[in-house]
Amino acid sequence: MINRENLCGKALEMRDRAYTPYSHFNVGAALLCKDGSIYTGCNIENAAYTPSNCAERTAFFKAVSEGKLEFTAIAIAGGQEGAESLEYCAPCGVCRQVMREFCGDSFEIILAKSREEYQIFTLAELLPMGFGPENLDKKM
Ligand code: THU
Repeated sequence: MINRENLCGKALEMRDRAYTPYSHFNVGAALLCKDGSIYTGCNIENAAYTPSNCAERTAFFKAVSEGKLEFTAIAIAGGQEGAESLEYCAPCGVCRQVMREFCGDSFEIILAKSREEYQIFTLAELLPMGFGPENLDKKM
């Protein structure tokens, strides 16, 4: 069973770690592995802009680099620094593609406004007809 409130809470907490001197848009993510472990991430910006990394990819790359390859869900919380309340922050296209590499259609993407207020999407909903590892396996 997924403890969605806990996952959203961790994503919200990770917003405090965001390094965003350019956008001041702080995003936190919490990635639940199939073994029950959780890897967190925040966005990390750069003066040269393009090397910036989103919170979701930070969480994925931390997990994969620690040997985790199977995932159940990710919670994402993002919004302007100092905003009174959050809007739902959907993952960018690049992050959706990184999810596609490691996750199946039913992987849950939980967009959090607070611990209790969230929307759930599947990866299939947010990235229909995606290109994934299996496309390279086909002998046609
Ligand atoms: N960002 C994320 O970290 N995740 C998202 O889902 C959307 C955007 C970051 C990238 C950049 O540091 C800032 O938010 C503004 O785009």
